Amino acid sequence: MPTRSYPSPAAGKAVARHSTVRRDLACVVAITVIAAVLCATFDFGERFYRWTRGAERFQVDELPPTLFVLASGLAWFAWRRYRESQRELVLRRELEEEAERLLADNRRLASQGIDTQENERRHLARELHDELGQYLNSISLDAARIRDLAAPREPEIHRISLAVIQSAHHVYREIGGMIRRLRPIGLDEFGLPGALEHCVDGWRERLPDASFTLTVEGDFSTLSDAQNITLYRLVQEGLTNISKFARNARVEIYLVRTAGERGEIVVTMADDGPGVDLSIPRKGLGLIGMRERVEALGGEFHIASEPGSGFLFCARVPAQASPVAPNAAGEPAGAAANSEK
Ligand SMILES: Nc1ncnc2c1ncn2[C@@H]1O[C@H](COP(=O)(O)OP(=O)(O)OP(=O)(O)O)[C@@H](O)[C@H]1O
Ligand SMILES: [Mg+2]
Repeated sequence: MPTRSYPSPAAGKAVARHSTVRRDLACVVAITVIAAVLCATFDFGERFYRWTRGAERFQVDELPPTLFVLASGLAWFAWRRYRESQRELVLRRELEEEAERLLADNRRLASQGIDTQENERRHLARELHDELGQYLNSISLDAARIRDLAAPREPEIHRISLAVIQSAHHVYREIGGMIRRLRPIGLDEFGLPGALEHCVDGWRERLPDASFTLTVEGDFSTLSDAQNITLYRLVQEGLTNISKFARNARVEIYLVRTAGERGEIVVTMADDGPGVDLSIPRKGLGLIGMRERVEALGGEFHIASEPGSGFLFCARVPAQASPVAPNAAGEPAGAAANSEK
């Protein structure tokens, strides 16, 4: 089967540059030839001499060689500037490549940092659950046994054992909250939509003045762990921001997977809260972290807001996510597209 190869963009640019140079040179040669033919046809030199004979004392007839020297000088001047700009262009390309390589390194580091953080969180959640949970349970059972044994004879011990049971229950609840924050409930068991539903339900209880709608479209059963946790953390951070900056807002969350082999997952969260002026520098790290997470999966992250017009963020992640390739020197997969209004 015949195949057709296409020139690379760099080769294409070089070809375009050469063709312009040739065309321009051809123009210069053609104009010179035309001028020579016209001069020969109309005896330009003789006419010029006749015209300027009267002004012999001003040496006007010496003008052509002087102009020739000036033209040669200008050509030399232009050539020097051209070489200079070429050198600057090469330097600039090298710097751009260096910047792209550093950006890719930076993204890879961020991606590794996020992975490490998630692994550590998962490990901590498991340890808290398995180790502390078990011991707290034993403490609670032992205290209940002491309570039962002491009940008739030792009212003081009975009271203390009740306090121990209460404290154990309190710590157990606290640890449960910590485990849920460290590793979202249901993400492993029920997948992203289920975990998000659970997360949003939690915020419905915590923020009764706000209203939340979660719309899920598409199949999310085949997402990788990194995609699941990234998309979950996006919504989690978005909802935390709602609790800080837009407690009474109407919040709409969309989780959509577009069909097709090159499909993508789009998460959008919009609220009608007070919004913010994005041209003013912000100190927080939440949005920066969101963008880093999304770009680490080769996606794009956009935010939009204006004072009084709510706040919106939108993340697009390729469904077949491939983390930023090591030493990717070319155009990074997900340009830092932060389209701030
Ligand atoms: N839903 C929102 N409504 C209005 N303003 C918002 C909203 N979300 C974010 N912002 C604005 O964007 C800024 C940056 O948000 P970001 O999450 O990065 O930081 P933060 O929440 O202030 O701090 P951090 O997340 O690091 O604890 C916020 O300080 C706030 O001004
Ligand atoms: Mg935040």
